[in-house]
Amino acid sequence: MYNFDTCPNRENFGSLKWDRYKDTSILPLWVADMDFQTAPEILKALEDRLKHGVMGYTVPYDSLYESVINYLSQSHNYSIERDWLKFLPGLVPAINLCCHAFSDQGDSIMTASPVYPPFLLAPRYADRELITTPLCQDASGQWTLDFSTMEASIKPNTKVFILCNPHNPVGRVYSRAELEQLADFCERHDLILISDEIHCDLIFDPLFQNKHISAATLNDKLAKRTITLMAPSKTYNTPGLACAFSIIEDPAMRRKFEKTTRGILTEINCFGYAACEAAFRHGEPWRQELLSYLNSNYKLLKSFLEENIPQIEFKPMQATYLAWLNIKDLELKSPAKFFEAQGVGLSDGTAFGDKNYLRLNFACPRKQLTEALDRMHTGLKKEGKI
Ligand SMILES: Cc1ncc(COP(=O)(O)O)c(C=O)c1O
Repeated sequence: MYNFDTCPNRENFGSLKWDRYKDTSILPLWVADMDFQTAPEILKALEDRLKHGVMGYTVPYDSLYESVINYLSQSHNYSIERDWLKFLPGLVPAINLCCHAFSDQGDSIMTASPVYPPFLLAPRYADRELITTPLCQDASGQWTLDFSTMEASIKPNTKVFILCNPHNPVGRVYSRAELEQLADFCERHDLILISDEIHCDLIFDPLFQNKHISAATLNDKLAKRTITLMAPSKTYNTPGLACAFSIIEDPAMRRKFEKTTRGILTEINCFGYAACEAAFRHGEPWRQELLSYLNSNYKLLKSFLEENIPQIEFKPMQATYLAWLNIKDLELKSPAKFFEAQGVGLSDGTAFGDKNYLRLNFACPRKQLTEALDRMHTGLKKEGKI
């Protein structure tokens, strides 16, 4: 019913993703936004809001709260009170503000890498020490948190753990057992948990048995030390509308966070709210088709690499549209630059904490993905790398 095969041209349109390679023929498969138009149901809500014609300061309103509260309850079995919700212009500002709110100068903040670069930057921006512990592989070869290294690396001044679940860039959805272990770790070390769950509605693998588990739903103790960060923006491709939200159950934590945001965060724009409500009320059929399209792209990518570039190692993933490719065996001097020279723009793994990787965004029309993969393959052959 929905069309993901043809997308509007985004060149010279102020797109972060496309303008990096302005006036070149490089296909951008880097930053995490999709080339697909958002759901028509969301476009309709935006048109209706625009027709009103008055774009004054806007505060969250009843029907918006209701849509988010129902979504959390129905999709994630998370039953929340309205007071716990705070709308935000994005998760990245929220992560940075959390570092200020829940730790002091001289404290340290822990996260597991490779990870979304702002997790690595936010503690540093706040003059906190950053402790990263590498993800490891479990018996089945899946990426997982390395609790023994986490135990060995934690310090008495560590105040916060930043979790990415599902994990960008490895695409893992953490299991109940893993989250329970993390809950125990946070409890024993008295850590605040920042749980970034922005990718939670992008589990594309239909065979994957587990649902996303919101950390705060695990148990009451963990809920009292967790700030959950979410947004409709990754799933519905609306990051340009800058509308996200936090959920904080503990009143003292809420006050601390609120105080840190005072005078710094602006009101959210009226279109962000309209899109958020429409996404959660009417977006589900579109999301289901998106997931199926992403799953086909994932399978295409996986089989292409297996058949044509087996030197690239690619572990199975269940969520997000961001593939984490181990390119170590290709022995490229400057991997991202190498592929740019072949006409494909990928994210350099260095920013995520591992220079042996590149991240590839496969949320684009299949034709574009095929073209990018062909270019990578041809380039590697031409340069004698495969
Ligand atoms: C894990 C994660 N958190 C946050 C963001 C960005 O959030 P926002 O655009 O709301 O700042 C991204 C974007 O890719 C992400 O992958």
